[in-house]
Amino acid sequence: MNEADQMKKLVGEAAVENVEDGMKVGLGSGSTVYWMVKKLGERVKEGLDVEGVPTSNTTAEWAREFGVPLTDFSKVQELDLTIDGADEVDEQLHLIKGGGGALFREKVVAAAAKELVIIVDGSKLVSQLGKFALPVEVLPFGWEVTAKHIAALGCSPQLRTAGEETYVTDNGNYILDCPFGQIKDPATLHNDLKDIVGVIETGLFIGMADKIVVGKQDKVEVIS
Ligand code: 5RP
Repeated sequence: MNEADQMKKLVGEAAVENVEDGMKVGLGSGSTVYWMVKKLGERVKEGLDVEGVPTSNTTAEWAREFGVPLTDFSKVQELDLTIDGADEVDEQLHLIKGGGGALFREKVVAAAAKELVIIVDGSKLVSQLGKFALPVEVLPFGWEVTAKHIAALGCSPQLRTAGEETYVTDNGNYILDCPFGQIKDPATLHNDLKDIVGVIETGLFIGMADKIVVGKQDKVEVIS
C-alpha cells in the first residue's frame, strides 16, 4: 500500500471511533470512505449495532461486502452522524465535494445528519476553495444550455466522461466540472449556480461540516 492509501486507511479507521451503539450513520463515498466502511464492518462483527444509509451504489456494495447493515430514508429520516470524504476543505470548514460524482446524495445524507465528520489527508486543506474544479450535477436534458449559463459565471465547464462515454451519476444525471479558480465567496457562487435551471446540486458544502479528521504523516488531527 502506498503512502496516500495508508493515510486514507488511517483517517477512515479513526473516524469510526465517532460511531456509537444504536446509531444511524450516513456512509459517504470515495476511496477514504472505503476504509471507514471496512472498519465499521469489523466493529459490527464485534457486536456494534448500527445501520447505514449509503450515498452511492458503490458504497452500498462495500457495506454489503463488509457486513454493515443498511437502511434508507423510507425508514429513518434523521441520522446521528455522517462520515464522508472531501476534495477540498477551507479554513471555515466549507468543502468542495463530488470528485467521485456522488455529491447530490452526499448532500442529502449530510443534511439529514446531526453531525458531519469529514475524513481527508492533509493535502486537501486549503486557504481558499477552487483549485479543484467544482463538480456540478446537472440534468442531461439541455445540459449544453445549463453549461452556457454556468460559463457566464466565470468558468469553462467540462462535461465529465468515463472513458469514451459521458459519466452518468447514480441519479441518471451528468456532472460538469467547473474550474472557477479561487472561489472568494462560496455561498454566493453556490446560490448563483442553484438559480440556474438544470442545475441539480453543486459540490459546495457550505457550513455543513462539524469535524474534520485529517491525516498528517503518521498521525491524525481533528479540526472542529
Ligand atoms: C465523492 C466525494 C468524495 O468524498 C471525494 O471525492 C473524496 O474522495 P477520496 O476519498 O477518494 O479522495 O465527494 O463524490
